[in-house]
Amino acid sequence: MLVKWKAAQEQEQEAWEDIGTGTPIDSPQEWRDFLGKRFCIDFGVFHAKSVLEIGCGPLGIIHFIEPDHGLRVGVDSLLFTYEKHDNFHRIRAIGEFLPLRGEFEVVVCFNVLDHCLLPRMLLREAALHARTGGVLLLWVHTTRKAVRFLVKRIDRYHPHHFSMEEVRHMVSEAGFGIRALWASPAGYEINEPSFNLREFIRILRTKSIKTAIYSLIKTDTCLVCMKP
Ligand SMILES: C[S@@+](CC[C@H](N)C(=O)[O-])C[C@H]1O[C@@H](n2cnc3c(N)ncnc32)[C@H](O)[C@@H]1O
Repeated sequence: MLVKWKAAQEQEQEAWEDIGTGTPIDSPQEWRDFLGKRFCIDFGVFHAKSVLEIGCGPLGIIHFIEPDHGLRVGVDSLLFTYEKHDNFHRIRAIGEFLPLRGEFEVVVCFNVLDHCLLPRMLLREAALHARTGGVLLLWVHTTRKAVRFLVKRIDRYHPHHFSMEEVRHMVSEAGFGIRALWASPAGYEINEPSFNLREFIRILRTKSIKTAIYSLIKTDTCLVCMKP
C-alpha cells in the first residue's frame, strides 16, 4: 500500500502543477456553492470556530474561509509551490499521525480518504482531534462494490476505493455519529451535479478514456458527522 500511496502522491503533485487541465474548486464562491449544493450548509458553519482541514492541498476550502476568531489549521502530506493564501497555519504531515494536540470544532476532509495511506487511521485521528460535539465534514468518492473489479482496473490513481456502505462503516467505527449523508453524481460541475456532456468531453480530451469512464460511475458522497 505504501508503494501505491507514494505513486499517488507523485501523480498528485504533477496533477496540481498541471492545474490548467483540471477544474479545481478555487474561489470562495465555488466552495460556497459546493457546500450549499452538496452539504446543504453555508460558510456560517466555520464562523468563529476552530477548523482543521486534513489533506487541504493547495486550494482546499480552508484557503477561502474568512479569517475570524477561530484557529485554522491545514495539514497535507505534500507541499505545494503555489499555495494561494496564508490565512491559516499550514503543517506538512500525514493525516494518519497528526502532530497536533488541539481539539477542533470543525474537521474537514474533502476528497482525501481514497488518496491517503490508511483511511481508517486517518478517520480515527480526525475523531481524536474533534471536540466533543464537534463536526466532521467528509467528502469522498464512492462506487458500488459490485463494480470494484472494473474500478480497480480503470482507476489506478487512487490507492483506495470505497462503497458508500464502507464509508459509513469506517466513520462509525472511528467514533462519529452520522447526522446527514448526500450522494450525487461526481464531478466538479458544482451547479449541475448530474451527467454533463461538456465536462465528459473535457475529461476525455485532457485525461484519458479510463478517467472519463471512472467519472461516470463514481459518486460524490458527502457526510455531516458529529463526535458524540
Ligand atoms: C484530491 S486532493 C484534495 C485537496 C483538497 N482537499 C481539495 O478539495 O481541493 C487530495 C489531497 O490529499 C493529500 N493527501 C494524500 N494522502 C494524505 C495523507 N495521508 N495525509 C494528508 N494528506 C494527504 C494530497 O497530498 C492532496 O493534497
